Amino acid sequence: FAHTPELGSLEVHPRTAVGVDDKGVIRFIAKECTENPLDLAADFFGISRERIKLVDMTGFETRFFFPGFIDTHIHAPQYPNNGIFGESTLLDWLNIYTFPLESSLKDLAVAKEVYSRVVQKTLEYGTTTAAYYATIHTEASKLLADTALRMGQRALVGKTCMNANSPNYYRETLEESKRGTLDVIRYIEHRDPSGDLVKPILTPRFAASCTEELLSWLGELRKVKGYHCQTHLSENENEIKWMAELFPQYANYTDIYYQNDLLGPRTVLAHCIHLTDDEKDLLVETKSGVSHCPTSNSSITSGEARVRWLLNSGINVSLGTDCSGGFSPSILEVARHALLVSHHLVMSTHNDKEKLSVKEVLYLATVGGSKVLDMEDKVGTFAVGKKFDAQLIDLCVRGSNIDIFDFQRPKWGFVERGQSEKRFGNLICKWLFNGDDRNVCRVYVNGRPVVYRE
Ligand code: GUN
Ligand code: FE
Repeated sequence: FAHTPELGSLEVHPRTAVGVDDKGVIRFIAKECTENPLDLAADFFGISRERIKLVDMTGFETRFFFPGFIDTHIHAPQYPNNGIFGESTLLDWLNIYTFPLESSLKDLAVAKEVYSRVVQKTLEYGTTTAAYYATIHTEASKLLADTALRMGQRALVGKTCMNANSPNYYRETLEESKRGTLDVIRYIEHRDPSGDLVKPILTPRFAASCTEELLSWLGELRKVKGYHCQTHLSENENEIKWMAELFPQYANYTDIYYQNDLLGPRTVLAHCIHLTDDEKDLLVETKSGVSHCPTSNSSITSGEARVRWLLNSGINVSLGTDCSGGFSPSILEVARHALLVSHHLVMSTHNDKEKLSVKEVLYLATVGGSKVLDMEDKVGTFAVGKKFDAQLIDLCVRGSNIDIFDFQRPKWGFVERGQSEKRFGNLICKWLFNGDDRNVCRVYVNGRPVVYRE
């Protein structure tokens, strides 16, 4: 078992047994375990050995469990456009590629196909939790929640709100937006009353696509009911100029969300590339979280977010694929780009401290996500009381991108603990830079296997 409980740490626990109950909760962790795990679990739970399912990975020296990835920003309906963005930048990209595609999901047959594929694909890449934007369509948004429930992915699902500055063919009225939002929330809360797997999230697309009246109504709902909220912030320079034109009465882009009560500890702000110090202070004050989307930011030429600056300010930062501004459904790939983009920043600022390490970007991909989504007590690491949301990685899969020679294998059984951690550190680097879905052999959410490949 490996995980990153603190920013910059990587803990490795070889020869460890983890006991999970029928609700998917981790109940014990036996490190350096020498007992038969079946006996251990039978004793712990007070039941017979026959009722325990043992997943035994002893002898697989290149396999390890890692916490499932958390994608805090993904547009499910844009999945068919992954990789298709040409030379566009945000505002023309929305009109040329994005709105036409999203409007086609009004057709439930289209929505069904797209949503099953995006949930399946992200699960196969080890994403156990995702914060999804759907479209403006109420029924299709419900279908996305149903799809996550059926396939067993932990998800926040939001009906996208757009009642202004949007094309005629893809725009709602204020009343439709309010009614649709409440309808989808009620539906999700009815389908998963405990909220154990799928929950609603308020989703004003970005300030430009909503009237002030809609923003303040959503803000009031957020404040009263404590719902999660997600939107875009400070992604592109032309976008920022446009916001200043549309909302001259506010001090800056962030202030639009601030004054309308949309910021808070359960609010996810995607991008946050060009923030001023004042705007950063508003995020700190409201404990709002950031979804860093480096793959998207490079693809549609939005910029390089200053992640170290955000982290040093005490802001929670996580990772988002931002499909299809970003071309990849893989958080592992986004983590790789987060690292490389931080190197690019250093090339212009010459401040080495901006560099993000392998361990740090894996933290953003797991614990960072859990903090931004206010699920830190539930997911992100392996700990007693948390849910078993995990991916089983195998670095030695025939035909995968990783080539590990025999002498590089960790040999858990024969070396001292410190040594195996050092060797394992190198293997984690190989995984980050060369791994992909071929290395994911199983994925568990709530202790339940949702991807199973041998
Ligand atoms: N800003 C408003 N809508 C979008 C979107 O769909 N993707 C991205 N990356 N930025 C946006
Ligand atoms: Fe986005």
